[in-house]
Amino acid sequence: MRLEGKVAIVTGGASGIGAATCKFFAREGMRGVVVADIDDERGLQVAAEIEDAGGSAYFVHLDVSDEQQWEDAVAATIDRYGKLNVTVNNAGMSIPASRQNVENTTLDVWNQMHAVNLTGVFLGTKHSVPEMRKAGGGSIINISSIYGIVGSKSGTAYHSAKGGVRTFTKSVAIQYAPEQIRVNSIHPGFADTGMTAELHAQPEERERRTALTPLGRIGQPEDMAWGCVYLASDESSFVTGAELVIDGGMIAQ
Ligand SMILES: NC(=O)c1ccc[n+]([C@@H]2O[C@H](COP(=O)([O-])OP(=O)(O)OC[C@H]3O[C@@H](n4cnc5c(N)ncnc54)[C@H](O)[C@@H]3O)[C@@H](O)[C@H]2O)c1
Repeated sequence: MRLEGKVAIVTGGASGIGAATCKFFAREGMRGVVVADIDDERGLQVAAEIEDAGGSAYFVHLDVSDEQQWEDAVAATIDRYGKLNVTVNNAGMSIPASRQNVENTTLDVWNQMHAVNLTGVFLGTKHSVPEMRKAGGGSIINISSIYGIVGSKSGTAYHSAKGGVRTFTKSVAIQYAPEQIRVNSIHPGFADTGMTAELHAQPEERERRTALTPLGRIGQPEDMAWGCVYLASDESSFVTGAELVIDGGMIAQ
């Protein structure tokens, strides 16, 4: 019961890392887990699974790039559970059209990638802070990527947005440290989720990524969810502005 009594919003909670995080949060004793996503069907399913297992969860439809929807999601959280202690800005996207070098990246794709992967984190942080202040502190966990730390030959807009999440996190950590609102980023390596399902189903790509990872396997959503549990809990009460890399050693090389 590492999270007993706390209330969290997890964006992108319908799938992959977000869904695993919601389930771990509930299992560790949270009073309420708000599963927030654009995917209503799968989001409702995750919330139902948590309730069936004896936890408390609530689904809200949220497009993280829409400020009004953020205001509504935070209000719904307060209505339902009375407070907000933890926000995991996890929702993210990568599409085939975004896996391009800079010359082949269209402005539309660039804007879309930043709207979800970076503006979504800004809005989630902006609208969580006032409620965390009322609660006497809180923890904001921003899911970046190893690709927010190092570059690669493609994925130009993804690198830019995830790199933005990394330094945005440090900036906000400094701004709100006096109010005990902690802000940290997590940098997953290659993981099996909805986003990578097609890519990792290609044996050659899967082998290439496994070979690049010193621990010799592709990550699982639960590997990242444990990091969220730590950063959400009081065990990390002296941790802010930090980068938690969970990548099987990939970028240590
Ligand atoms: N899977 C990996 O290898 C990997 C590696 C590094 C970082 N990440 C990051 O992890 C995070 C979680 O992704 P995942 O791998 O679990 O993928 P996923 O596709 O399984 O889950 C992403 C979720 O985000 C939701 N989403 C997408 N756009 C949204 C929006 N505008 N508003 C609200 N929800 C939205 C999707 O509906 C989905 O449920 C992302 O930020 C991703 O960039 C993933």
